[in-house]
Amino acid sequence: MKVFVPEEIGFCFGVRRALQLVEDELRKGGKIYSLGDLIHNPQVVEELRRKGIKTVGELSQIREGTVIIRSHGVNPSLIEEARERGLKVVDTTCPYVLKAQRTANLLVQNSYAVVVVGLREHPEVQGIIGNAQSGKIYVIKNSQEVEKLPFMKKVGVVVQTTETLDNFEDIVKNLIKKTEECRVFNTICKVIMRRRALVRELARKVEAMVVVGGRNSANTRQLVEMCRSIGVDTYFIERKEDLKLKELKGIERIGIIGGTSTPEQTIKEIRDELLSLDQSHNSFKINIHHS
Ligand code: F3S
Repeated sequence: MKVFVPEEIGFCFGVRRALQLVEDELRKGGKIYSLGDLIHNPQVVEELRRKGIKTVGELSQIREGTVIIRSHGVNPSLIEEARERGLKVVDTTCPYVLKAQRTANLLVQNSYAVVVVGLREHPEVQGIIGNAQSGKIYVIKNSQEVEKLPFMKKVGVVVQTTETLDNFEDIVKNLIKKTEECRVFNTICKVIMRRRALVRELARKVEAMVVVGGRNSANTRQLVEMCRSIGVDTYFIERKEDLKLKELKGIERIGIIGGTSTPEQTIKEIRDELLSLDQSHNSFKINIHHS
C-alpha cells in the first residue's frame, strides 16, 4: 500500500489566526467566551474548553469578560451590542470573510443592489447582510432562485467563502440576463479552492480516500462529497480511533486529506497508524504528494 498525504494539510491561515488570538487572550486571564464553537472540530473545541474557553449560544448568556467572534464573522450589530454591554470583543473574523463584508458594504454605498450567494441562515452570510444593511440585498443559494429575483439595473454579487465555484458560475451566468450592469466579486476562500483542487487530483490517483475532519465541518463534508462524486471509496473520520483498518486491507493506493479546521497532528497520527501497519505487514509506504 502507498499512502499519499498532500503537503498542504492542517488548519487554514484563518483558523490558525483565530486560535493564536485566543491563545493570546488566554495568557491575559479572565473569563473568555466563544459565541458558538470556535472551529468546527470537536476535539479542538474540547481542548479549548479544558483551557478555559466556554462556548455559549447567545450573547445574553455572557455577563462579563471577553467574547470571541469566530472566523466566519457575525452581524456587526452583535459586536456593537457586546461592546455596549461592557464586554471585551476579540474579533477573529477571517480576512477573506471581511473582504466579502466590505465589498457588500461598498456596493450598497455605490447604489448597487447586492446578491449574496450562500445560505441565509449561515452566520457568515448574516455578517455580510449586516454590513450592507441600508441596501437592497438578496440571498440565493442556486440558479433556480435567480428566477425569483426582480430585474435590477445595477447589481453586485458576492459569495460565501465556502461556496463551490461551479454553483457560483451557474448563478452568475443566469443573473446577468436580469440586469444591465453586473459586478461580480469572487469571494470564495482561496485556501478552500486550493484544497478542493488537491482533493480532485489526489482522488483520481488512489483507490480510497480518508477524509479527516469534524462531522459538523461543512468544508470537510464537501470534500467527502467531492471524493464520492469522483467515484473513489471514501472514509469520513474525525480521529485516528475511527479508522477501520480491516476495511482498508487490500487497498494499494490510499490518500489522506483534512478539512481546514482539522489539525495537522490528527492527519499525522492517521498516517502513522497506517505506517504501523506497514511495520507489521511490511507493505505500507508513505509518499508525500506535492501540489
Ligand atoms: Fe478563512 Fe478560508 Fe479559513 S475563509 S477561516 S482561510 S477556510
